[in-house]
Amino acid sequence: MNILITGGAGYIGTHTLVELNNAGYEFIVYDNLSNSSQASIKAVEKIINKDVIFQEGDIRDKEALKKLFSKYNIDSVIHFAGLKAVGESVSTPLEYYNNNVYGTLCLLEVMKEFDCKKIVFSSSATVYNEIDSKNYIPLTENNPIGNTTNPYGTSKFMVERVLKDLYISDNSFKIAILRYFNPVGAHESGLIGEDPSGIPNNLMPYISQVAVAKREYLNVFGDDYDTHDGTGVRDYIHVLDLADAHVKALNYLDLMANNNVPLIVNIGTGIGYSVLDIIKAYEKASNKKIPYKIVNRRLGDISKCYANPTYAKEILNWEAKRTLEQMCIDSWRWQKNNPNGYKKG
Ligand code: NAD
Ligand code: WQD
Repeated sequence: MNILITGGAGYIGTHTLVELNNAGYEFIVYDNLSNSSQASIKAVEKIINKDVIFQEGDIRDKEALKKLFSKYNIDSVIHFAGLKAVGESVSTPLEYYNNNVYGTLCLLEVMKEFDCKKIVFSSSATVYNEIDSKNYIPLTENNPIGNTTNPYGTSKFMVERVLKDLYISDNSFKIAILRYFNPVGAHESGLIGEDPSGIPNNLMPYISQVAVAKREYLNVFGDDYDTHDGTGVRDYIHVLDLADAHVKALNYLDLMANNNVPLIVNIGTGIGYSVLDIIKAYEKASNKKIPYKIVNRRLGDISKCYANPTYAKEILNWEAKRTLEQMCIDSWRWQKNNPNGYKKG
């Protein structure tokens, strides 16, 4: 029995491959390498000391997917493939809907054709709305969703709807929708990690590039939020804890009977840290000064966003184990050993 991992060459995908291997699962990676390279797969092979079956391809290429499903006995899919930059999605919405929504439809159509009916989907805390209201923090899974503010978030919301409707039409589908909070950190080997192309959009990769002197200073987007020090608060989760949640979700689907509505679960720690908290922790882990400037708020940002992770514990027996200190130590090890990510030099 094989698991198809779409987007498996990416940041979260590679870490999940390691955890799946540790749990004894067999998998096939399918990725168009639009935001990754095969060097990440080579690094995974080094960690797990085993070859990885990799097929380059796009989820929108149904013929290629059909070939893959014909060749391998695919029992379930973990679906990471997609585009993920919020700002970029505002400028190129069609690309985002095409990759994330149409791409998922292609995948689901082929799965149905081959009677493969188990899927774990990468959703995001970004699907929640009104998260600035105190009533909604920490966020539980039944918080209202869908009032998204950018095409990326809307694409995740739309796919959630597609999956729910698919289940209604055919309740032998077993579906897990994982709503990730803010994944950071890297594998402790320092061989795999986050490798953003161009200027990082997200906080931790930006800080790590300042620490390694690739960038001069960090812009802190606003210090007048209603938080303990005025800077934005988020729920940062170690990528290996997140990877482990996929293994648990897969186990859950394996044991799940038919006629079970899609599982929708927050994957976060439940702890909110501010931008200044992260800077401090990173300085400690790297023993480097992180110079920063306070600038205006970033458009579309909210003050606080963190999970209520109780349901994940209850239903999946999963909880995040790694601390912020560990997240920073592991991120720094990856950055220091690979200042240019997977690119040599
Ligand atoms: P990533 O960009 O590192 O990985 C995504 C992978 O998908 C890349 O390797 C890319 O080449 C591949 N891909 C993109 N479009 C494809 C297509 N059409 N066909 C085949 N492959 C394609 O991103 P990540 O951080 O690992 O995120 C994985 C998933 O988790 C994404 O769906 C993302 O939206 C979601 N997510 C990420 C975060 C985060 O902060 N990193 C938070 C919440 C949700
Ligand atoms: C965190 C905090 C910023 C950069 C995004 C997506 C979300 C999800 C995760 C995919 C905020 C501040 C940041 C910088 C800063 N991705 N910041 N200077 O915005 O919570 O979530 O990534 O699903 O959908 O929206 O993460 O890391 O960008 O920001 O001050 O250079 O750091 O204002 O308070 P965010 P982030």
